[in-house]
Amino acid sequence: MAEQRRCPVHAAPGSEGLSSEKGRPLSDRAVAFDPFEGPYQVDPAEALRWARDDAPVFYSPKLGYWVVSRHDDIKAVFRDNLTFSPRIALEKMTPVSGEAQEALASYGYAMNRTLVNEDEPAHMERRRALLDHFLPENLLPRRERVRTLVRERMDALVDKGRADLVQEMLWEVPLTVALDFLGVPEDDMETLRRFSVAHTVNTWGRPTPEQQLEVAHSVGRFWQYAGKVLEKMRAEPDGPGWMHQAIRRNAEMPEVVTDSYLHSMMMAIIVAAHETTAHASANMFRTLLTHRDAWDDVCADPSLIPNAVEECLRYAGSVVAWRREATRPVELGGVRLPQGAKLLMVTASANQDDRHFEEAARFDIYRDNAVDHLTFGYGSHQCMGKNIARMEMRVFLEEFTRRLPHLRLEEQELTYLPNTSFRGPDQLWVKWDPARNPERTEPDLRAAHREFAVGAPDRRDIARRVRVTEVTREAEEVLSLGFAPVEGQRLPGWSPGAHVELCVGDYERKYSLCGAPGESGYRVAVLREAEGRGGSAHIHGHVRPGMELRLRGPHNLFRLDEAAEDYLLIAGGIGITPILAMADRLKALRRRYRLHYAGRSRRSMAFLDRLARDHGAALTLHPADEGARMRLPDFVTALPRDGQIYACGPARLLSALEELTAEHPEGTLHVEHFAAAGGGPDPAIERPFTAELADSGLEVEVGAGETLLEAIRAKGVDVSSDCCEGLCGSCEVPVLEGEIDHRDMVLTRAERARNDRMMACCSRARGSRIRLAL
Ligand code: HEM
Ligand code: FES
Repeated sequence: MAEQRRCPVHAAPGSEGLSSEKGRPLSDRAVAFDPFEGPYQVDPAEALRWARDDAPVFYSPKLGYWVVSRHDDIKAVFRDNLTFSPRIALEKMTPVSGEAQEALASYGYAMNRTLVNEDEPAHMERRRALLDHFLPENLLPRRERVRTLVRERMDALVDKGRADLVQEMLWEVPLTVALDFLGVPEDDMETLRRFSVAHTVNTWGRPTPEQQLEVAHSVGRFWQYAGKVLEKMRAEPDGPGWMHQAIRRNAEMPEVVTDSYLHSMMMAIIVAAHETTAHASANMFRTLLTHRDAWDDVCADPSLIPNAVEECLRYAGSVVAWRREATRPVELGGVRLPQGAKLLMVTASANQDDRHFEEAARFDIYRDNAVDHLTFGYGSHQCMGKNIARMEMRVFLEEFTRRLPHLRLEEQELTYLPNTSFRGPDQLWVKWDPARNPERTEPDLRAAHREFAVGAPDRRDIARRVRVTEVTREAEEVLSLGFAPVEGQRLPGWSPGAHVELCVGDYERKYSLCGAPGESGYRVAVLREAEGRGGSAHIHGHVRPGMELRLRGPHNLFRLDEAAEDYLLIAGGIGITPILAMADRLKALRRRYRLHYAGRSRRSMAFLDRLARDHGAALTLHPADEGARMRLPDFVTALPRDGQIYACGPARLLSALEELTAEHPEGTLHVEHFAAAGGGPDPAIERPFTAELADSGLEVEVGAGETLLEAIRAKGVDVSSDCCEGLCGSCEVPVLEGEIDHRDMVLTRAERARNDRMMACCSRARGSRIRLAL
């Protein structure tokens, strides 16, 4: 059924008389919103599609919360933990009855601040004091233990032919790993699991009054259990694991790592570390087994596993909503929020926001910005255990795809614990034919496996398979290549300005998409560069129709803003490719545009026939050998003040345009460069500097021989990247203080002058320090 679109401001029929906290009329959907039942429990992202489109921030009278649904808004809230305090993160969603309160009190229950719900400056001091164990280099040795645990359980079930994955693998391994990591002696696991469920219902659920009492007793017992464990651990202060470290820190700095923190954290972390990962893993198996092509691809190519895990965390994460409270009146998503406004940020909705992810509702393990999901939160409170969870999920997937590639999901009705924030099925039944287990004929398979680095996925592994359908000569030294998906797959849609990265032999090269409107598959054009590094010559020499290649993307960093009325399109040489796609789009939109295309000679200029046919009226060619030079100042002068310029070509063309538009309004000129200035940092020339990450509270030392991006990632902070040579803009980081030495080709002169952002893959600090909003 088509979604009805309604104005977010005006009242919907039936909502007369109802108002939000500030008197704003409410739509009937806002009034009906109930996260404990109905569509939200089935699919939280889909349940809030209407909100993302029409009311990105709305007040829910049933909850007493403002619901936030878009990626950018939620990220902005996570980033600003002074305006949006995390203090309500573990508050009970449903007020506790007097009887339940009494029951809790009888156990001495006094759950208080941990990390996740602590305000600054206490939070950051504590987080820093407790960070070491989570650093990638300190997590690496744990990988073997995870593998052993998974193998033991796998051996026990591999010949059975049927299993409930949750019961037989997915909750017990994360719980054991969590207890190991914490240094807590393994105990009655089943009881701990029941405690965890009670804690979830108590905090994020809507128990009935009778359930409340039962839950209160379980939570009370959990609290006492946590206290006893803590006492036992205090008796061995030199013990291993994160909680023992916290106990030592408590002795060293009691005002930072407080007694109250220790007891509350002991209880909260068992849930934070195990339930989240167990649910995320169950969601992952469910998602992959219902997208069989993706599962089969992972079976065939295990290097896809880290990104498949990341896409599962995006598409079906285990934490679907998180909370903050406004500490002052503030505007968010165009809505005025009062001081004290409680926010439910539905991260599952942000993760499927089309404004951030191309075709966001589609599950695509080749998506190269899946890592931008908000399932782990973001900023100073971002999940400290994200790399433990990733590690476990990767091992699960690696073991199952290798040893049981023929695994299937059974027909079943999945049930979920009704609550706002934690999501994963109670059971997940799978089946397979043990007679077909590959290890019966290849026993070595049992032990063979692949290891992955700790941290976010390596983008070099994110590539899809395509078939070359056509190789056509478009001009002297220019070939166009057509691609179709391999059998059973579909290529995602793309927008003008998007590029893909071709992997041919040892070469990886980026090319803009330039297929004609309505053409299926992808098309790129490749100029053989005599002075290049060999990639284009290799493509010209080796790529033939019928071949299978790998390709990354599409990814768009040269987006066409469709809001203007007038456009000037300028292409130099092979820069015609993105410009051609833009011209096609502008024509379809019936916008006014002029297209100037310069080249050495007509023989060297690609797509001339198509350009003449489709854009003849707007087109002017400038072949240099005919003396037809471009008069850029005239073109720029002729453009109305609110017009936009899109240009792709050699650096001198783009710099000339930059100079000519220096006084134009922001956003007039959009450029895409061909090539970067070159290589990584040379330690003989560069100087080290310190980067302070304001959101994460970290200090990062950037050595003379490494990039800022590398140094930030080594601290476990995820930053997207693409080209890693200052061309694409995907590694942009906001700068708060410190002078920047810009080395990229992305920012315009005016943007550089503002000194408020930099490309982490190549640019550096001019002085010894720089402060970033990360
Ligand atoms: C915080 C999700 C696994 C430890 C968080 C937050 C979320 C989250 C949403 C709050 C972030 C924010 O406020 O910005 C998840 C998910 C997991 C997972 C989805 C699994 C898939 C783990 C594991 C551990 C862990 C395995 C530990 C072993 C923590 C800690 C914090 C945290 C200590 C508090 C950080 C702070 O406030 O500074 N997690 N988590 N988590 N998580 Fe996780
Ligand atoms: Fe492309 Fe840095 S990753 S500019």
